[in-house]
Amino acid sequence: MTAINSVMDFSKDGDVGVLTLNSPPVNALSANVRDGLYEGFKAAIADPAVKAIVLICEGRTFIAGADISEFGGASKGASLFDVQNMMEESPKPVVAAIHGTALGGGLEVALCAHYRVAVPSARCGLPEVNLGLLPGAGGTQRLPRITGVEKALEMVTSGSHVPAKECLAMGLVDEIVPEGELKAGAIAFARKVVADRKPLVKVRDNDTKLQAAKGHPEIFANFRKANARKFRGFKAPEANIQCIEAAVNQPFEEGLKTERRLFMDVMMGPQSAAQRYYFFAERLANKIPDVPDTTATIPIKKVGIIGAGTMGGGIAMNFANAGIPVTIVEVKQDALDRGLKVVRGNYERSAKGGRFPMSEVDRRMGLITGSLDMNALADVDLVIEAVFERMDIKKDIFTRLDSICKPGAILATNTSGLNIDEIASVTKRPEAVIGLHFFSPANVMKLLEIVRADHTSKEVINTSMKLAKTIGKIAVLVGVCPGFVGNRMLGQRGREAQKMVLEGAMPWDVDRVLYDFGFPMGPFAMSDLAGLDIGWVKERSKGETIRDVLCEADRRGQKTGAGYYDYDPETRAAKPSPVTEKIIKDFVTKSGKNPRTIGDEEILERCIYPMINEGAKLLDEKKAIRPSDIDVVWVNGYGWPVYRGGPMHYADQVGLDKVLAKMKEFEAKMGDAFKPAPLLEKLAGEGKKFADLR
Ligand code: CAA
Repeated sequence: MTAINSVMDFSKDGDVGVLTLNSPPVNALSANVRDGLYEGFKAAIADPAVKAIVLICEGRTFIAGADISEFGGASKGASLFDVQNMMEESPKPVVAAIHGTALGGGLEVALCAHYRVAVPSARCGLPEVNLGLLPGAGGTQRLPRITGVEKALEMVTSGSHVPAKECLAMGLVDEIVPEGELKAGAIAFARKVVADRKPLVKVRDNDTKLQAAKGHPEIFANFRKANARKFRGFKAPEANIQCIEAAVNQPFEEGLKTERRLFMDVMMGPQSAAQRYYFFAERLANKIPDVPDTTATIPIKKVGIIGAGTMGGGIAMNFANAGIPVTIVEVKQDALDRGLKVVRGNYERSAKGGRFPMSEVDRRMGLITGSLDMNALADVDLVIEAVFERMDIKKDIFTRLDSICKPGAILATNTSGLNIDEIASVTKRPEAVIGLHFFSPANVMKLLEIVRADHTSKEVINTSMKLAKTIGKIAVLVGVCPGFVGNRMLGQRGREAQKMVLEGAMPWDVDRVLYDFGFPMGPFAMSDLAGLDIGWVKERSKGETIRDVLCEADRRGQKTGAGYYDYDPETRAAKPSPVTEKIIKDFVTKSGKNPRTIGDEEILERCIYPMINEGAKLLDEKKAIRPSDIDVVWVNGYGWPVYRGGPMHYADQVGLDKVLAKMKEFEAKMGDAFKPAPLLEKLAGEGKKFADLR
């Protein structure tokens, strides 16, 4: 065995040279790795005893792509193109041996080998689109030459990780070798290539699969049309599509140039910067400074849920999906039956949509048990209370849970804003009490705000963070305060949206601006969806707000066919409503205000800047660990467009001095609601960004 450099070894198995790359955690293509590959292939090609070369990786995965943390810095070491040329032009067959994931630049390296073998659990993909990028090392030109245009379009615009079996079917992988026997399998394969005098296949040279798309631009037009909603606002999907078009319409070398040009376009743009930032933000959110990863965890084998409403049922599904048995406790049989019926209905819809076979519905339902007796929770490891937001009810439930549940069981509340310290105070185990704030619909939404109370133990925090991963959630640890991180900031946006309607904007003006910014919908469309009558009491309603008047007119949102908007009875499409417009205008006139025209810029700034300001306060109060955690909350829980990074990243991009100046201007005109947070003043004064707070 010869060490080529600190990450690459060269050894021989008879006449097969084996290059072994070992650069934890994911063998990303850093300068050192590129150097190792370049020098390694050079040495193997030069060695007269070597007849074929296998490239294999140590650790959890094959090369998982370019080293994202190097992007934007000065380029050092061998270029990826040098490495790829060396491999593709090698006079000796090169076999890439794939386990884990061959992603991005990793797959692009493997595509320059003459052959690829993989274990069954391996996956291949070009996920650059999720970083606002495109595969910039020939991936868009080589992939369609193997898979054909349709499959390539699908892969580069979705970034999906394709399982080995599918890769074999489409020719991306030449052979699957048994799990755990990758090295021996790849060496045997290489030997066979030599013995059978198989050709040195260069993917670049074979255009056969592209022929079907030549002269058929409608393939691309149709693909764009079919995905227009999914791609809305994003620049990278279109750039990826144009690269595949180039693969069809241009010779290989020209196609590479187009790919390079488009790669540089997206790479230098703000969207990719935001999406790369976000990639690391999501991973950073798992790191809790005073709760190391090595902190003990409590095994969660059985879960209890109090409440079979929309939230309780949705939460239960997460656990059943992960194979963890759940008991749901309700007070009344009909409420329990209704709740379980909704869960079954959700599963049946998924099965009908092809997500899993019908047999899964019964299997998952079999993991969910209903009960009317809280004593059924005596042996669960975790209880999540999901009843409505009243402190007295929650306190009563926690008092009873404390006496029923076994010692060591975690008692969690799904409250979206009540004081968890107060809830914990009624138990004799405040260290076991934590907030697990799921977002509705709880079986779909990715975000989980994990709320740390004063006495919550580190074990309970670490267990909750790990459990979030098990059930496929993205967790962010936050502190106790009204609304926690997400809803507290949302409150700022909601307040300004309402105020602007009283000043002269129409709900659809506000919604349009936020939709164009990249949110899936604005606050008024959202209210219509949720129901305007949440928290509204008919008997007490005196027409004091526009919402009161709308509800009194039985315009309670989508469910009544009208709310802020009118809804087409057939298509359910929303239309600005002349009725709502009149209600608003009458209301404003009655209150003696003079409506004015509010520009789009003001709408956006008044919705977004107070949120950023509230984010700064949350950081000052240590309710969020770091600015990027706030961004993870907003991207996953509230539809903030990931290509804008999140509110705190967006503020950095706008410039904190500009945000501050605007807040001061608004404060002078409209008062204290816009008072700048001390942290915003401080950072802006020092010419810094939120990102400097790490
Ligand atoms: N560059 C730098 N660091 C990376 C990385 C990359 N491409 N991929 C992962 N990492 C780091 C993560 O930040 C994380 O670091 P910490 O432990 O310090 O937080 C560590 O590796 C492990 O990553 P995960 O926690 O994500 O581990 P996982 O097992 O859940 O997932 C993975 C592994 C599927 C490879 C996932 O990390 C992933 O999807 N990585 C990104 C893959 C990617 O996008 N590749 C394309 C890069 S762009 C490119 O290649 C452009 C080109 O055309 C040349």
